[in-house]
Amino acid sequence: MEMEKEHRSSHPRLVLVPLPFQGHINPMLQLGSILHSKGFSITVLHTAFNSPVPSNYPEFGFVSIPDNLSEQLISADDLLPFISLLNLNCGVPFQECLAKMVQKQEVENEPTIACIVYDECMYFCDAVAKYVKLPSIVLRTTSASTYLSRNAILQLKAEGVLTSQGTSTNIEGAVASLISALESLFNIFYLGSTSQDLVPGLHPLRFKDLPVSKIGTPEIFLQFITNMYKTRTTSAIIWNTNDVLEQPSLQEIQKQCQVGIFPVGPLHEVAPASSSSLIKEDNSCITWLEKQKQNTVLYVSLGSVASVDKKELGEMAWGLASSKQPFLWVIRPGSVDDQEWKKLLTEGFVEAVGENGCTVKWAPQKEVLAHGAVGGFWTHCGWNSTLESISKGVPMICKPCFGDQRVNARHVSQVWRIGIQLENMCERGEVERAIKRLMVDKEGKEMRQRAKNLKERIQLNIREGGSSYNYLNKLIELIMSF
Ligand code: UDX
Repeated sequence: MEMEKEHRSSHPRLVLVPLPFQGHINPMLQLGSILHSKGFSITVLHTAFNSPVPSNYPEFGFVSIPDNLSEQLISADDLLPFISLLNLNCGVPFQECLAKMVQKQEVENEPTIACIVYDECMYFCDAVAKYVKLPSIVLRTTSASTYLSRNAILQLKAEGVLTSQGTSTNIEGAVASLISALESLFNIFYLGSTSQDLVPGLHPLRFKDLPVSKIGTPEIFLQFITNMYKTRTTSAIIWNTNDVLEQPSLQEIQKQCQVGIFPVGPLHEVAPASSSSLIKEDNSCITWLEKQKQNTVLYVSLGSVASVDKKELGEMAWGLASSKQPFLWVIRPGSVDDQEWKKLLTEGFVEAVGENGCTVKWAPQKEVLAHGAVGGFWTHCGWNSTLESISKGVPMICKPCFGDQRVNARHVSQVWRIGIQLENMCERGEVERAIKRLMVDKEGKEMRQRAKNLKERIQLNIREGGSSYNYLNKLIELIMSF
């Protein structure tokens, strides 16, 4: 066990446990920065796999824990089994490490650990916290609506309406419609159906928007969300969302939850500016952006896990080229499931695009979205990307790939009405039309205006008097009371 940096302070200490993926490391370290700015001392307990970069946060302590996981690129298809393995492997070493930290604070007068804050996917931490007799708080890194939609599936399972094979055991009365709805839900993913029907009680989600994994059996998926959503001994739940965006869902969740929920987001807006990128950011794209006109550039990125096949890559590329709109495109290593993807973009594409396009492996995304030249974001609708785009008033083209991204995309296009969702397989004509609608047409201008209004409301909400600000103060009071 390697102590990378030891941090001493008279303030209570918080131990943070992030899930080792970019979309989860970012909000956890942002939360750490916020709480550090409020006087807490922060220690990050992390896996050796996808270890965060300690030099980006010199004010934190970092402790690396052996995880028995091989360094590999994890695709969306591997995610669920990988997270299960992570939870199996990490319990014992994390427990030993925490027990030593607790012992040391007693003997050596180290700062007292007030509590453990862990990512919802690192659910093994619940038992660890109990063992070392420390309070724990869960950080949920997806939207409140994602939670409600996954929870609805769990409730039906608990009521015996849904069995693991996706068939019903109770087909009477009012539940009958839900049963058939749930059957179609699993059919969507297991038998290839594409239900457009609205899910009862989850407006505006259609069955095809539900965050159901097609990886493994329904039983594995149901077990995963059960593990993630069981609050067990947790004292509170922190949410990277905000009343401005999700008040009805948050109210519903608070009714269902036995512990307090704290929607203190968007964390990246509240936290002091910092980067927790696992991949080196290519800042040359900012120089390219400087040469572009206001609101003209479409920023294209599918986050840190999603990938496309070579056909989709070709359709995206030619849709972008034919739109004649300037674009900044992040093509992450591993994000195209064909090693030879560069060749696909050479035949005529480079000539067709010229100076109008810029591609990088990884961008400083928050800086890009804040740049005046950027007028739209083609996104997979990961929750961080969605929040980052909204916070900068940038409207979106949504092409969700898996899980919660479908829920987020639906909210962007139907609830906040600040984006267009690409519904079908990516086809160049559809791509070109969507780009023109967003970047040139009146419809896109209206979306940009609504996005800017939402940005203003969020800015007010995180300032003194706003609900996000107030929740943060209440959260701090709670931690101090432990
Ligand atoms: C994953 C899931 O896919 C997502 O659905 C879930 O909500 C969170 O976990 P990911 O797919 O990586 O996340 O997407 P997202 O949530 O958008 O997080 C990506 C992060 O990487 C963002 O904070 C974004 O700013 C950052 N990023 C992305 C960069 O810094 N540079 C880039 O070039 C691309």
